[in-house]
Amino acid sequence: MKQRTKKKVYIETLGCQMNMADSERMFGMLEEIEYYPTESMLDADLSILNTCSIREHAAAKTGSYVGKWDKQRKPGSLIAVTGCVAQQEGEKLVKDIRTVDLLIGTHNLHRLPDLVIEAENLHEEAIANGSKEAKLNKGIYKRPQVAEIWEELPELIPETPVSRKTKHFAWVNIIYGCNYKCTYCIVPKTRGDQRSRSIAEVKQEIKGLAAEGYKEIVLLGQNVDGYGMDIGTNFATLLREVHEVAGIERIKFLTSHPCDMTYELIETVAELPKLAKYFHIPIQAGNDEVLKRMARRYTFKRYMELINYIRKLMPDASITGDIIVGFPGETHKQFMDSVKAVETIGYDACNTAVYSPRPFTPAATWEDPISAEEKNERIRFINSVITETAEKQAQRFLGTVQDVLIEGPSARNPARLMGRIFTNKTVNIDCDPEEHDQYIGKICKVEITKANAWALRGQLAKTPALV
Ligand code: SAH
Ligand code: SF4
Ligand code: F3S
Repeated sequence: MKQRTKKKVYIETLGCQMNMADSERMFGMLEEIEYYPTESMLDADLSILNTCSIREHAAAKTGSYVGKWDKQRKPGSLIAVTGCVAQQEGEKLVKDIRTVDLLIGTHNLHRLPDLVIEAENLHEEAIANGSKEAKLNKGIYKRPQVAEIWEELPELIPETPVSRKTKHFAWVNIIYGCNYKCTYCIVPKTRGDQRSRSIAEVKQEIKGLAAEGYKEIVLLGQNVDGYGMDIGTNFATLLREVHEVAGIERIKFLTSHPCDMTYELIETVAELPKLAKYFHIPIQAGNDEVLKRMARRYTFKRYMELINYIRKLMPDASITGDIIVGFPGETHKQFMDSVKAVETIGYDACNTAVYSPRPFTPAATWEDPISAEEKNERIRFINSVITETAEKQAQRFLGTVQDVLIEGPSARNPARLMGRIFTNKTVNIDCDPEEHDQYIGKICKVEITKANAWALRGQLAKTPALV
């Protein structure tokens, strides 16, 4: 390849950990063609918007970001759109937003460096022909666009370099896509069918991370419990393999699906000491009729059996969830079943969202007589119940001494340190800023002195053992 000059890339990441992991892959791939990260799009040669499509509100950000960026961009710089909106909208997006230079879907992200070079070349050519172009277009500069969207995930998803921003924990994809068809969800459309990475490949990546000094890894998938079904293995087996990697002290995973979660998996987490006793298991609704219309394939009873088994084996485990409020036709009684579910389960935290109709999903075509005001009222109410439950749950940590992986200064108050206990709860620690460096990246003993719904407060124990 011909010698390239160093350039700057800015990436804005919207959406979930899948996108965050994808952005790290993009940084890694772009370094190979001499693009290095910058903190501001104002001085970037390439600005990438990694989009999310989960709700209308998230998807609508695409147009507003690109519009703003186009006005602010450095002359000659490129704007790219990647992620779930790019995959879902396809080339229609570049027709609608003429200021985008490059569009690339989630299935062919590994093609990014080639496509950036193609866009650069086209752009340079157009600038060279500038006067002719400008005349033809009556002064309007015609922007050459590169768009490539693969409909299917490739048979073999190519390994790409990754440049991580997080220093103390690392995301590791174990599955791409999702095989379910929940009636409200756009993800199968934007991420395709489930593809598990091989155990060997995942383990190799984690060994590399251990060698770089990472202590914690987070295994990622839309349905981690479905891991291996497509390649003749299962999630519990993967966990046992990953657990063997020396140097990694903590292993977490996201997201669990109640339909595929097994007792064997719960037993494996209970048995293996490096596995965080933390489960994110979205319930979505507490009413069986609603769950059925969502095509979730479990009942509230089945969900509770899983929770009870987790608590039986790991009484201190943290459990978090997601709930959708105002699914089409959800009655007041059905909504109250979700509220009761939150109280019965006793979540440590739970994300809630008002249902948002998404293109190409069955539920988007269903009648929905419930008003927006009513839905907003419902979400306010359930959120207040969740806060109460979370606050109550947090009290079990009060006065205990916890092993905390210290991530860095707290964002709100840089005089404090921020870390996470073994069940994932955030803890803010009073600590002299001059001493911060000796603790960051280490696992320390911390005494919990305050507990509220969202975070704990603590003090380093007299002799904080450092790992
Ligand atoms: N794979 C995970 C979640 C993926 S999406 C699972 O099966 O649970 C993350 C969360 O976004 C979901 O748990 C759901 O609560 C929410 N969500 C997804 N589609 C939505 C929609 N159309 N409207 C509102 N919330 C939605
Ligand atoms: Fe969406 Fe359902 Fe798949 Fe989760 S399991 S990503 S909610 S289709
Ligand atoms: Fe959004 Fe795509 Fe994740 S739609 S939530 S970024 S999988």
